[in-house]
Amino acid sequence: MGMKVLLVGSGGREHALAWKIAQSPLVETIWCAPGNPGIAAHATCVNIQADALETLVAFAVDQAIDLVVIGPEAPLTLGLADLLHAVGIAAFGPSKAAAALEGSKAFMKDLLARHAIPTAAYRTFRDPEAAWAYIQAQGAPIVLKTSGLAAGKGAIVCQTLAEAKEALERIMIQREFGSAGDEMVVEGFLRGEEASLLAFVDGERVIPLAGAQDHKAIRDGDTGPNTGGMGAYSPAPALTDALVNRAVEEIILPTVRAMAAEGYPYRGILYAGLMIDGDDLQTLEYNVRFGDPECQPLLMRMRSDIVPFLMACATGSLAGMAIDWDPRAALCVVMAADGYPGHYPKGDAILGLDQAAGLAGASADSMVFHAGTRLDNNQVVTAGGRVLGVTALGQGVAEAQRRAYEVVRRISWKGVQFRNDIGYRAVAREQQA
Ligand code: AMP
Ligand code: GLY
Repeated sequence: MGMKVLLVGSGGREHALAWKIAQSPLVETIWCAPGNPGIAAHATCVNIQADALETLVAFAVDQAIDLVVIGPEAPLTLGLADLLHAVGIAAFGPSKAAAALEGSKAFMKDLLARHAIPTAAYRTFRDPEAAWAYIQAQGAPIVLKTSGLAAGKGAIVCQTLAEAKEALERIMIQREFGSAGDEMVVEGFLRGEEASLLAFVDGERVIPLAGAQDHKAIRDGDTGPNTGGMGAYSPAPALTDALVNRAVEEIILPTVRAMAAEGYPYRGILYAGLMIDGDDLQTLEYNVRFGDPECQPLLMRMRSDIVPFLMACATGSLAGMAIDWDPRAALCVVMAADGYPGHYPKGDAILGLDQAAGLAGASADSMVFHAGTRLDNNQVVTAGGRVLGVTALGQGVAEAQRRAYEVVRRISWKGVQFRNDIGYRAVAREQQA
């Protein structure tokens, strides 16, 4: 009998996971809660929201699910993995206590500081006046972050004290991020190039994935406000093998050991946001789930069956495992709704999907992953800020980029926006080489 898998979530990350899990010969049935129209090609979608913990657990018990794969951070920080373990169902994703690495930046910074793991100097505040005094004493540039979850939008990089004052007011006075801003982390500005290193972790052992690079800003040239991520690619030339080894030895393994030593062993995927400046390697952030969109290019490059890795993280048995990677590059361009990351309309008909799928299907080297979409009378319409993630493989990043944009250009809706320069750093490096 093959395995029954329940995937939780409905974004581009979950579409990539559903697509990848569906390729596993070990799996018989995939459910996805709540899923989206793209995921429906690989899984049976059930209308349970990702944060409806009790309903999800009841469903998993009823269906005799063998493995629950938890995509987004919200159910993890609410304790879905703990509830599933309590009823004897394997869950891919950290416990509630371990998910605080993402759910509370104050927790994460304090843990790293206690264990001398490299991260920017910081202080935590609950009082705006004390925060303002500290900010003025430090001077700009400076970075203000909500301690709680804010969909990737709670970190504000301030080039001037005036910007810092405005950010402080948004977080602590106007409370634009709600209770996520009850506590605020103020940290030193780090220079350099960002990269994402994700790793499978089983409580003790660590298997790094290939490097990836995200593009957080909404507009070309990394300008405009931060988003959840507008595009990503892998491998990331900035993250050399030597740097990956250092990141594992100096950052990820010490963190995993610290978590175990303090009584909350980490299991699942651990995503380290790194800042690289020459020889200097710093931890910008931790996420307790696959990055989105990084997940999309990473899974397109992963040749190994993912299911044994997901199961081994859940059961503490990663020893001796290794990932086989496609040597080609993969690149994802996010297509977003007009106005994102601010307010955006929903329900706009998405045109060109069939044509794009034809192009994608012809080669199997490109995929249109759905993020914020839904079906309206058999028509796929927009239903979120980040709507699609068009991902393609190529011999290098430049070729993957060209292929991805070929597909992107066939798809449109009213006010669609995307960056035109995803991968520019890696393409420049390829041209130099
Ligand atoms: P975070 O949510 O902590 O990853 O921050 C979101 C983004 O803000 C990061 O991807 C960086 O682009 C930027 N950022 C965060 N912290 C710093 C820092 N200390 N110095 C410079 N940029 C930062
Ligand atoms: N792409 C960044 C994130 O998933 O947080």
